[in-house]
Amino acid sequence: MKDGKYIALVTGATGGLGTDMCRTLAKDGYYVVANYRTDNKAEEWHAKMKEEGFDFAMAKADVSDYHEVEAMMEKIQEEHGVIDVLVNNAGITRDGSFRKMSFENWDAVIKSNLYSAFNCTRCVINPMIDQKYGRIINISSVNGQRAQFGQANYSAAKAGMHGFTKTVAIEVAKLGITVNTISPGYIGTDMVMAVPQEYRDKIVANIPMGRLGGTYEVAHLVSFLASKQAAFITGANYEINGGQHVY
Ligand code: CAA
Repeated sequence: MKDGKYIALVTGATGGLGTDMCRTLAKDGYYVVANYRTDNKAEEWHAKMKEEGFDFAMAKADVSDYHEVEAMMEKIQEEHGVIDVLVNNAGITRDGSFRKMSFENWDAVIKSNLYSAFNCTRCVINPMIDQKYGRIINISSVNGQRAQFGQANYSAAKAGMHGFTKTVAIEVAKLGITVNTISPGYIGTDMVMAVPQEYRDKIVANIPMGRLGGTYEVAHLVSFLASKQAAFITGANYEINGGQHVY
C-alpha cells in the first residue's frame, strides 16, 4: 500500500491496453506503477498522461529478462511498497505462417508473452504471501484458446498462460491471493490495427458483435478482478471477445 492505496503494477503500460488499464485503475483508487521498456516512448506517454491529469510512477524493465525484472521489482518495493496488484499485460506479436517462422520470432514471442508472466509473478509472489493479499491478472488472448493462422508462437504463449494461471492460483488460494486470466479478443489497439486490412476485415466479419472491442472494456474487467469484491474468483479465465469464441 502507498498513501492508503493499493499499489498496482501494469506491465507494458504504454501500449493500447496498458494505457487504459492504468487510467482505469487510477480512477478506481489504485496507486499505479507503469512498467515500460523504451525510454523515448515512455517519456512521451508519461507527458501525455500528465496532461490528462495522471501522474503514474514509472518502472523500466524488459519483462522478458528475469534479472531486469528482479531489479525493477526491488526498486519498486523500496520506493513505493509491496505490489498488491500485478497485471501481466506486456506482449508482442511476430505473426507469420509456421513454415516460414524463424527461431528468433518464436523465441521473442515466448519470452515476451510467457516468460514475462513467470518473471514478474515470481518476483512479487513471496511479498504478496507475506502480506496475505494479492491480485494477479494475466492478459492472455482469444488466440490462446482458438487457432489463428500465423500465430503459432503467440497462441502457444497465450495458451501457456492458462496452465500457469490455474496452477499458481491453487497454490496460493489459501493465502489471500487470486490469480486469473483475461482473454481479450480483437481490441482496437495498434497491435490489431497492424494486421493487414484484408485479414482484419475477415476477422471482424466473424465477430458476432461486428466490431472490435474497446480498450476501456478490458480495463474495467481488470479493475473488477483487482477489487476486493472479486476475492472468491481464482484460477478463472474471463473471455471478452464480442462472441468470437464461445463454448
Ligand atoms: N486462413 C487460411 N489461409 C490463409 C490465411 C488464413 N487466415 N492467411 C493466409 N493464408 C494463406 C495465404 O493465402 C497463402 O495461400 P496460397 O499459398 O494458396 O496463396 C498461404 O496461406 C500462405 O500464406 P503466407 O505464409 O504467404 O502468409 P501471408 O504472408 O500471406 O500471411 C499472415 C500470413 C501475415 C500471418 C496473415 O495470415 C495474417 O496477418 N493473419 C492475421 C494474424 C492475426 O490475426 N494476428 C493477430 C494480431 S493481434 C493479436 O494477436 C491480439 C490478440 O490477442 C487478438
